[in-house]
Amino acid sequence: MITNDFWLDRWQTGRIGFHQEGVDSKLIEFWPALPKNSRVLVPLCGKSNDLIWLAEQGYHVTGVELSSLAVIQFLGDNDFTYETHQEDELKIYTVKELPLRIIEGDFFRFKESGFDACYDRAAMVAMPSSKRVNYVEHTVARLSPHAFVLVISLRYDGDKNTPPFSLEDSEVKSLWGNQIQKIACEDLAQTNPRYTEQGYTFFEESAWHIPLKNE
Ligand SMILES: C[S@@+](CC[C@H](N)C(=O)[O-])C[C@H]1O[C@@H](n2cnc3c(N)ncnc32)[C@H](O)[C@@H]1O
Repeated sequence: MITNDFWLDRWQTGRIGFHQEGVDSKLIEFWPALPKNSRVLVPLCGKSNDLIWLAEQGYHVTGVELSSLAVIQFLGDNDFTYETHQEDELKIYTVKELPLRIIEGDFFRFKESGFDACYDRAAMVAMPSSKRVNYVEHTVARLSPHAFVLVISLRYDGDKNTPPFSLEDSEVKSLWGNQIQKIACEDLAQTNPRYTEQGYTFFEESAWHIPLKNE
């Protein structure tokens, strides 16, 4: 069972193999030019450097993360100064150097809405199947009706009952609706022996978007 404690323990014990030192290449490749000051939501953000890249493009970025350790590491690693305040169960960290806030707490308690865009890397695939529909519904409810969405999904062979979970294309479409489109697919097992060494014959990483209305 993937509970909040599972994730807190992963951070406590430093088992954060999902964290990338750089900015995600698919984010750079597939993020469109949105109007400056667009409000971008990054659910389950960890201490991702993608937050910084998005904020540096001029967007108002809000990341939501359960683990206080992740938040503190993110702020410390990047030498950010910040202010904090509490809103019910959520602790809000407002970064001074960039238009960036990190909300520490359970994403399902986060109720702000009207975001213009959403970036999901390793968030949907972190959710167990029992919570995945709720996760996507809760995310979509945070967005404006014509928001841009970029999702990175994974599909691999074999059984694995810990995140990241493998999702069929049909499940991604049924979760996000017919407007989501697959825009790229890369079999990481072809380029990185790590995956074949772990027994995967394929390990596909796909990028999906819900395009802007005028595209
Ligand atoms: C697989 S990691 C991905 C982190 C980040 N998106 C990245 O690309 O590095 C999933 C993250 O979601 C966080 N998380 C899991 N459940 C959560 C919840 N209910 N609310 C907020 N964060 C959550 C975990 O602590 C973890 O940092």
